[in-house]
Amino acid sequence: MDRDIVLELTASAWEGPFAPEEQAAALSGLEAGRVLFLPRLGFQPAAVERTLLAPGALDDTRKNISLDPATGRLHGTALAGVERERLAAMLDRFGRQATALLHGLLPRYAPLLERARTSFRPAEIAGRQAAPRQDDTRLHVDAFPTRPMRGRRILRVFANIAPDGAARDWRVGENFADFAQAFLPRVRAGLPGQGWLMQRLGLTRGRRAPYDFLMLGLHDAGKLDEGYQARAPRTAVSFPSGTVWLCYTDSVLHAAIAGHCALEQTFHLPVTAMARPEQAPLRVLERLAGRQLA
Ligand code: SIN
Ligand code: FE
Repeated sequence: MDRDIVLELTASAWEGPFAPEEQAAALSGLEAGRVLFLPRLGFQPAAVERTLLAPGALDDTRKNISLDPATGRLHGTALAGVERERLAAMLDRFGRQATALLHGLLPRYAPLLERARTSFRPAEIAGRQAAPRQDDTRLHVDAFPTRPMRGRRILRVFANIAPDGAARDWRVGENFADFAQAFLPRVRAGLPGQGWLMQRLGLTRGRRAPYDFLMLGLHDAGKLDEGYQARAPRTAVSFPSGTVWLCYTDSVLHAAIAGHCALEQTFHLPVTAMARPEQAPLRVLERLAGRQLA
């Protein structure tokens, strides 16, 4: 795998211990836009959970099942009764392990790290039909229409738990600053009052800042640009079943090409918690735009 894009770590337990050099390398690599790859760490489904690891767990409308840690509720699953409870418990266990991993590996973030949704992604990515904006096989940075971040970071921990051993194949693109510089002239920061109005109408949870309009604009413009999708620089990265990886998906250009049965835990983090906040997309966009965006 490409040394610049992926930083391989030797950690083999969610709770550590983590050597100080490993913590320092993880922090600087992550903030510089690398993917941290932990080939010796895995999520172990219990025997009763293995029967749940199939696309049949999905309801018809979704590609992911998610657990909201605030309510403990599971969304997007066709499972009911004890199977539903088991799946929720498995996702919660993964979420707690992912939290322990970040607390141990990135202790600087621990006080301000917020655990958001946990997801289970059973469906095969390859061959799935999606509208271009929803198509995560296209290179993109993460930005979500209903969830304004107002500059906060999106940090995601993934585990490939495919029972048949299938790898999860990604492509990782150019660095965020180059991507943003190319696409920023094409996107708009929203009209005065638009963020307020969208929140009032219930279209967003919380108010979009100019940052959110720009990030969504970049997400869409990048995915819709066929020339960019065909020709932008990219590196293939393959995560074997039984491994874990994490990155800032709001700044790492990524595309998921193939694979099934992944777990994912999202964390939010204020820019001020970073060791080098100038590397946050908020700060990169503010430098390019010449003004405050959140
Ligand atoms: C994505 O965030 O675009 C999808 C990543 C994955 O499910 O592997
Ligand atoms: Fe994504």
